[in-house]
Amino acid sequence: MSLETVVILAAGEGTRMKSQTPKVLHSIAGRSLLGHVLAAVQPLKASQVRVVVGSGREKVEAHLAEIAPSVTTVFQEHRGGTGHATQLALEGLAATGTILILAGDTPMLTDTSLAQLLKGHHEGGYTASVLTAEHPEPTGYGRIIRGDDGSLLRIVEERDADEIEKAIEEINSGVYAFDCQKLVGAIGKLRNDNSQGELYLTDVIEILRNEGGKIAAVCIDDFTETLGVNDRVQLAEAAALLRDRINDRLMRSGVTIVDPTTTWVDATSVISQDVTLLPGTAISGESTIGAGAVIGPRTTLIDCTVANGAEVKESYATSAVIGENASVGPFTYLRPGTNLAANTKAGAFVEMKNAVLGEGSKVPHLSYVGDATIGEGSNIGAATIFVNYDGVEKHHTIIGNHVRIGSDSMLVAPVTIGDGAYTAAGSVITDNVPAGAMGVGRARQRNVIGWVLRKRPGTKSAEAAASAPSNDQEG
Ligand code: UD1
Ligand code: MG
Repeated sequence: MSLETVVILAAGEGTRMKSQTPKVLHSIAGRSLLGHVLAAVQPLKASQVRVVVGSGREKVEAHLAEIAPSVTTVFQEHRGGTGHATQLALEGLAATGTILILAGDTPMLTDTSLAQLLKGHHEGGYTASVLTAEHPEPTGYGRIIRGDDGSLLRIVEERDADEIEKAIEEINSGVYAFDCQKLVGAIGKLRNDNSQGELYLTDVIEILRNEGGKIAAVCIDDFTETLGVNDRVQLAEAAALLRDRINDRLMRSGVTIVDPTTTWVDATSVISQDVTLLPGTAISGESTIGAGAVIGPRTTLIDCTVANGAEVKESYATSAVIGENASVGPFTYLRPGTNLAANTKAGAFVEMKNAVLGEGSKVPHLSYVGDATIGEGSNIGAATIFVNYDGVEKHHTIIGNHVRIGSDSMLVAPVTIGDGAYTAAGSVITDNVPAGAMGVGRARQRNVIGWVLRKRPGTKSAEAAASAPSNDQEG
């Protein structure tokens, strides 16, 4: 049996988030809540995915166009309940095969559990299968009412439940597989005679059962998978649980994580074997970390590519490429377009942007490198500034191979320093320096002999100067 359709219900208002952003667009571990649900659904290879949108429709649709362009949306103008949302989603649908229905606010669900639900559903020839879990704090969820033989009779919502039903710990996850044709036949029979005056999708279970349908309740071991996010406290709880899940997976795949509680890796980032992540490290977006790299402590990498054996300490980098065995930090700020080749160094208090550092080149201390191409084996002395901005436009600096830039140089772009050239410390370089030349761009030093004794008599400096050997005074 094939999975024809997936419907994700995401039209709710998310009032408890108290946010201008629609609930399903809040993100944890590098994906929106809706993005996590889509990621869990994606491996199931459904023929089509429909998302019911309502509140914040434009924003949700724009987000979907970006992350899942093949998904179609269905508009629910007024909240009429999960049953109403499903009715709308079923309109104009070819009622064949299996349909999977789930909510857009359950980011912890895994494709494994969804596949397990579908497998049981197909193998048992069920009309409907509901994913359930034993929840230690079931308050707020729909409860699973089973008959004496253990079969699923119906689902009762918290607000409509009596005391005995409320004591049941098995909850409805809000994930269902249906025989689509049977669902289409039953969905019109829902009534809103409940405490919320809404059409509950959950009521369709009892309707199908009364019509002789075969109903399954599949209880999964890990209840955390079913957690729904309704407010920011639950958002943070889900984020922490996802962090732990990701860290567990990484550690089991051979990554050392010294302090898993302070290490945050997005679901979208890839960490290779034998990487060490030190405390306070966050790796996010489309980042990739190569084997044997050491990251942290207290390092943030966003959309970065770090090659094997590199080391990044106490640093912050966005859209940077860090080459094999490169060394970054401590306290280094790498902005988009930074590309460090193998065996390079970007050291303490260095900021780089849109800059290529060739193999073996070093920027060890206190420099700003913006809009530059630096060759191989070159050294940029401490406190060098690439003066890339004239107040209107940005300009590029080119530095050749095996160049030595003296400390405290200003390289005023556009400017080119040829292969093997040097610049004198403290230079302001405004003209190109040819290969092999020494560029000197500073005033010659002049000493005013005896100035302190004449101008600062009676000071400790004057005293020290007076007692220095006379040849030191003359210089
Ligand atoms: C629902 C279930 C409950 C289950 C719980 C699991 C019903 C009646 N109840 O309750 O049994 O334990 O999920 O998390 O189904 N939505 C729409 N349109 C609507 C109403 C809701 O699209 O008119 C969407 C929401 O955006 C949300 C999902 O459906 O993504 C579930 O709605 P929500 O209001 O969160 O239902 P719960 O009270 O959590
Ligand atoms: Mg909910």
